[in-house]
Amino acid sequence: MKQERLISPSLLSADFGHLADDIAEINNSRAQYLHIDIMDGVFVPNISFGFPVLKYVAQLSTKPLDVHLMIVEPDKFVNEVKALGSEIMNVHYEACTHLHRSFQRIHDAGMKAGVTLNPHTPVELLEDIVSEADLVLLMSVNPGFGGQKFIENTYRKVERLRNMIDRQNAHALIEVDGGVTAANAAKLYDCGADMLVAGSSVFNQPDRHAAINAILDAK
Ligand code: DX5
Ligand code: ZN
Repeated sequence: MKQERLISPSLLSADFGHLADDIAEINNSRAQYLHIDIMDGVFVPNISFGFPVLKYVAQLSTKPLDVHLMIVEPDKFVNEVKALGSEIMNVHYEACTHLHRSFQRIHDAGMKAGVTLNPHTPVELLEDIVSEADLVLLMSVNPGFGGQKFIENTYRKVERLRNMIDRQNAHALIEVDGGVTAANAAKLYDCGADMLVAGSSVFNQPDRHAAINAILDAK
């Protein structure tokens, strides 16, 4: 069965001086989600935005939020992410000593649980947890910054993860984040990705709707 192509534009590349305008553009687009990158300056060498700002982002967005926590000890913030009304809470595999427990807490809060893998982390490490996940986010750049170059090895990781999910009859969606453009989108979807995150290739374009459509309709 052909899966539905999903896109989650990343607010990290939006104009922070005009967030309301940029969120409104996504609201009026074909994008299914809004991707929110939270950084702590410890897990990744950068800091983005925190919950006081995101409270207003959440109020403005009509798209469900897909929150990507690039922080240590993400379990501490389950309630804050839930308070945003977020549909998905993504935690990094590398930041969770007890990932199964993290998933339980996210599920108990009524959210979908996603696990994110850094580029060097093999998908095979998910063999015994993927059936509990609602989403697996594969980083195709080293997390922390927008506008980086796509790491080509990601295609193989998507294929291997697709095989694992299908073999286990698991339901997790596959999401890819970093360096996604209209030029690599079709291959990523064809390898088995369900959802692509796109920051600079959407927000750094004069026509954001055309940029979203170019990724969703890439051939
Ligand atoms: C990077 C973030 C990404 C980022 C992607 O650490 O997780 O979501 O916004 O930006 P682009 O699409 O420009 O690579
Ligand atoms: Zn992200």
